[in-house]
Amino acid sequence: MPIETKQRKPSISAYYKTLGIKECKSKRGFWKHVTEVDSVLAEDLEPLISRKKQGNLYEVKNETLPFSLAVESWTKSFHHSFLTWINRQKHFKPKRILEIGCDNGLLACWYATSFPDAEIVGIDQSENGIRCAQELANQLDITNVSFYQIDFLELKERFLINSFDLIISVRTFHEIMGPLFIPKYWSLLDCLKENPTYGDCLYLQTVDDLLTDDGTYLSCERFENPADVGKWANSLKQANLHVQWDDCDIIDYHELGTKKRTPIIVATKRETGITTIEGLEQLYTKDYPLVYEAGKSYSGAKAEFAYHRLGEKTFKSGHSLCVPNQWYVFRFEIWETSDFLLVYSYGNMGHRHLDILPSVANLDAQLLIEEAMGQYQHLGPTVQYDRLEDRPK
Ligand SMILES: C[S@@+](CC[C@H](N)C(=O)[O-])C[C@H]1O[C@@H](n2cnc3c(N)ncnc32)[C@H](O)[C@@H]1O
Repeated sequence: MPIETKQRKPSISAYYKTLGIKECKSKRGFWKHVTEVDSVLAEDLEPLISRKKQGNLYEVKNETLPFSLAVESWTKSFHHSFLTWINRQKHFKPKRILEIGCDNGLLACWYATSFPDAEIVGIDQSENGIRCAQELANQLDITNVSFYQIDFLELKERFLINSFDLIISVRTFHEIMGPLFIPKYWSLLDCLKENPTYGDCLYLQTVDDLLTDDGTYLSCERFENPADVGKWANSLKQANLHVQWDDCDIIDYHELGTKKRTPIIVATKRETGITTIEGLEQLYTKDYPLVYEAGKSYSGAKAEFAYHRLGEKTFKSGHSLCVPNQWYVFRFEIWETSDFLLVYSYGNMGHRHLDILPSVANLDAQLLIEEAMGQYQHLGPTVQYDRLEDRPK
């Protein structure tokens, strides 16, 4: 079943259409869809996904190819955005691609279609995943891809060093290296000083070993916040892989109706001289240069970078809100620079919002603080402080 296309580059939408992969906009819609495809497997899968039962999710979801493709409707938008980004990289001319954690081969078969002159290798530890991947390649008449059921740790025994010029991993390393704990941090810089890396860099050294000297490593991993990306960049650096921050991007997608964003990290063996924190600022403010003038507001990582770029500040007043029996703590503070008043609302779980006001706008600053606190006040009691020494720890 070759993929029908009239374009020079095959169309990703046509690929999904050929495979009959639906888009589900809600959890309910997803379970309805997979149940229609195979009610027995859907019943086996549900307690694994909702963590009511322990077991190997990948062996169940990849029990048959039709069911595996039905489950893809959960990640369709994410994979579609990722492949669209790859399609836009006109300079990519890989000869040999390795996909680590290829699962049912959906992405690897796309690379094989999109780069017909390249040889694609997909590896995964899941037996059923690799079986589905091979079946998918056969169904699509794809001959430039091969799949191997091996553990990541066996890669160096099975493949020659410097033998892949493009290595790709998508949402795989949190399983290979173990998940990162959700960091609690007030400042990205402090967080990366205290806990600079993602984990043992030996894993990423394997990627470096397999990559050609001029090769590229693309990762689109489960990074929940800029701190995770910073730790990943630092671990890559320890493994001689340097993030090419100019080439990285953040892609938008939605998962069962919820809007999400995730970074794509491009690394090579070429040093850049850019520090991780500079690179993170470049990535999170890409296409959105920060402007430091009254009336500007920033949210998320941009707010934190803008706040730090605004230089010397004097603390004026603040409120702290601690959510009982939770880790969440929020601060709502007013700071003063030589030119502006800053209203900075930030939380130890990643919330950031900054309003830049004229230096005389004391009343507006108070109103913004009340407005910001109003969104969270139902979560717990607030404590006011006029000196930093009194700020609750
Ligand atoms: C979350 S899934 C992601 C699959 C696919 N890359 C995607 O984007 O849908 C993680 C995959 O990594 C594989 N995996 C986990 N640990 C592995 C290991 N140590 N060696 C090889 N594959 C592994 C799992 O079997 C699974 O297919």
